[in-house]
Amino acid sequence: MNHNHAGSSILRGVGSYAPARKLDNLELSQRVETSDEWITTRTGIKERRIAGDSESTSDLAVEASRRAIADAGLCVEDVDLVIVATITPDMAFPSTACLLQHKLGIPKVACFDLEAACSGFLYALDVADGMLSSGRYQCALVVGAEKLSTIMDWEDRTTCVLFGDGAGATVLAREGDGAEMLGFQCGADGSNPSLLQQPAGGSLLPASNETIESRGHYLKMNGREIFKSAVRVMERAAIELLERHGIDKNELSHVIPHQANARIVESLSQRLEIPMERFYCNLHKYGNTSAASIPLALDEAYKSSTFQKGELGLLVAFGAGLTWSAALVRF
Ligand code: ACO
Repeated sequence: MNHNHAGSSILRGVGSYAPARKLDNLELSQRVETSDEWITTRTGIKERRIAGDSESTSDLAVEASRRAIADAGLCVEDVDLVIVATITPDMAFPSTACLLQHKLGIPKVACFDLEAACSGFLYALDVADGMLSSGRYQCALVVGAEKLSTIMDWEDRTTCVLFGDGAGATVLAREGDGAEMLGFQCGADGSNPSLLQQPAGGSLLPASNETIESRGHYLKMNGREIFKSAVRVMERAAIELLERHGIDKNELSHVIPHQANARIVESLSQRLEIPMERFYCNLHKYGNTSAASIPLALDEAYKSSTFQKGELGLLVAFGAGLTWSAALVRF
């Protein structure tokens, strides 16, 4: 059953961070049998960012979080909940949220990670919104951060060209000035986990010489099947959310989709009959940054001059699980 409820919190601040190192298609084509032409026409991606060896997911999250907290006009003492959405935590435990809390000097508040792959950031916003509406929390730092370069198989051209590193953060609060979170729609279908997974390293296939030899610690994906499912589940999540709120798709000024592939975004635009001009895309610069993708795009879109107060926006994502998530925002 889908997890649905009306939102009520205020999006007070947003920030993002991408590592400085750029890896473009030309450089990639020197590592694996591919070309700028193939990657550009199949995905729209031109380059992606790669974090440094000593830069972990929590380090990317620190920078994005500092910017989001400053954007909200708040300080770390105001934060009383930290949620990090990621599939590339610094380590299995403790959570990246705990590591982030310490690095930022946030008080000793509730901190945890949430894993819903590329849908994770909107899942985390939904969870934070619910916790804020309980009245027991006032101000949540909600982050999507990934160092996907550590789980890429750099010998597999079908996946390594698609992903990148980055982080995005938001401050969600019960009160204050900002965009209004109107509602969420999250769902999942766990019937076919092998479509997209990192098979080894967990309790099913703990690390061993065999899992290393079989490259089981790297991301594996059936790209064609994911493509088809992605368009279908994002379309359905968007339509159900709009219907529940009695909002017509023509009232949407902005759609910020998960930044996986330009062709997926174009198919979604066609199926929803919402023109591409209203979709925000920055995937040509970053590739797919999984849980970081939506907040990284939101930050860049939000800070562009095209956003007017009162306009409606739809955020929509899909990811491994399969999972999907959508959120309605009044900017
Ligand atoms: N360079 C050159 N050729 C390539 C490359 C590459 N990088 N990758 C694959 N090819 C070849 C294939 O080997 C195949 O060759 P063949 O016909 O000789 O067998 C040919 O190109 C076509 O391959 P397809 O997989 O059919 O290509 P497709 O058009 O489906 O595009 C892609 C592949 C880009 C992966 C697409 O399927 C896609 O975007 N799928 C969705 C992936 C996605 O969004 N994943 C993220 C999920 S979110 C998360 O939770 C992490």
